[in-house]
Amino acid sequence: MTAAHKKVWFRLRQTLLGSFITKPQPKPLVFVGPGSTKQLSQAIGRFGLRKILVVTDKPLRELGVLDPTLAALQDAGVETAVFEGVLPDPTEQVVDLGIDCYHREGCDSVLAFGGGSSIDAAKVIALGAANGCKTAACIGANKCKLPAVPFYAVPTTAGTGSEATFIAVISNNETHEKGPVIDPSLIPKAAALDPEIMRGLPTHITAATGMDALTHAIESYIGRWETDDTNYYGLSACRLIFENLPEACRNGSNLEAREAMALASHYGGLAITNALVGYVHAISHNLGAKYGVPHGLGNAMVLPHILELLKDDAADKLADIAVYCGMGERSEPNSALARKLIDRVWELNREIGIPASTDVIRDEDIEALVAAAITEGGSYPSPRFLSEDECRMVLRAIKA
Ligand SMILES: NC(=O)c1ccc[n+]([C@@H]2O[C@H](COP(=O)([O-])OP(=O)(O)OC[C@H]3O[C@@H](n4cnc5c(N)ncnc54)[C@H](O)[C@@H]3O)[C@@H](O)[C@H]2O)c1
Ligand SMILES: [Fe+2]
Repeated sequence: MTAAHKKVWFRLRQTLLGSFITKPQPKPLVFVGPGSTKQLSQAIGRFGLRKILVVTDKPLRELGVLDPTLAALQDAGVETAVFEGVLPDPTEQVVDLGIDCYHREGCDSVLAFGGGSSIDAAKVIALGAANGCKTAACIGANKCKLPAVPFYAVPTTAGTGSEATFIAVISNNETHEKGPVIDPSLIPKAAALDPEIMRGLPTHITAATGMDALTHAIESYIGRWETDDTNYYGLSACRLIFENLPEACRNGSNLEAREAMALASHYGGLAITNALVGYVHAISHNLGAKYGVPHGLGNAMVLPHILELLKDDAADKLADIAVYCGMGERSEPNSALARKLIDRVWELNREIGIPASTDVIRDEDIEALVAAAITEGGSYPSPRFLSEDECRMVLRAIKA
């Protein structure tokens, strides 16, 4: 991790505490259900915008799922330009190209259409465009003077909940280490959770992104920054995920299961934007940076191991989740309920085809990964700090 990134992660908690994490974050206006993308497009038309930059990735564009939205925006009187240059875990370079495209096309607003990668790229394009700056100037907390230009989002995966958070995760061009861009105006003005768009999401991406949402729900719930509001969203997301993720993986055309997962993902985003995440993310971010392990997959593999380590520290909170999700009765000891929840997480991973290990991790990288995870994890409100030994153990456990 570069010194600059270290500084950003270390200062994150302090800055958030001192600025806006202590008050609830704004929530986007949300349209939900089949056809909600069209409703969002009509709403954008009514906001009086002239030309919107649609930020997406090439595979999604080629699938044709964006076409009805482009048509709906045009019907609503909004001109469109498309930037399809987003790659998974977007880099500063990708975002800079998007900012250039925004200015070249003479846009006045941004619509993210894609998974967390497209949404995060779009957020920083909207912020950089408003401030006439490049991405590098946006990295950190509240770095920009002006709020992002009007920004909207259509998530096409059910996982990151990025359409509800004030953070974008952008990777360094050379090292691929992830750095946060934090600004309250990164929360979109409005979003659509449209299950129709997720119908064709491949099973392995449905599974991995769904586990990202579960990780958000659990890490925010057991963390020390939880509030009544984040607990409500965390618990609701957990139940929706345990009840619907297996079906969304088995039968991607089941729009009820897709819609439930889209809501769960959104609730997870609403929870983490106030309560943040924990060591699962700290390890997974670094696996993504070092080896390109997809964010949701990294979380899915790491989550049960971290829960095993925290089961005594967070037994009461894990027990709440188990009871809320119908895994046991309140009369049972917290330790037994926590056990049931953790066993269900292991089982869910197996049921939806998440591998237990990955062959990308190299022995010679482990110490650097441990150091980076300890640094990042220390900036999150985890129930307790983990030791280097514990992080090392998790990495060894998921190394094939
Ligand atoms: N800002 C936040 O609050 C936040 C939270 C968690 C994760 N993230 C970030 O989000 C990124 C991961 O996002 P992701 O997991 O959604 O994956 P992604 O956006 O990288 O997409 C993964 C793949 O799925 C494909 N895809 C997406 N939607 C599809 C659809 N409907 N049909 C077919 N294919 C589709 C994409 O083309 C891409 O190839 C990471 O960079 C992570 O750091 C951000
Ligand atoms: Fe995540």
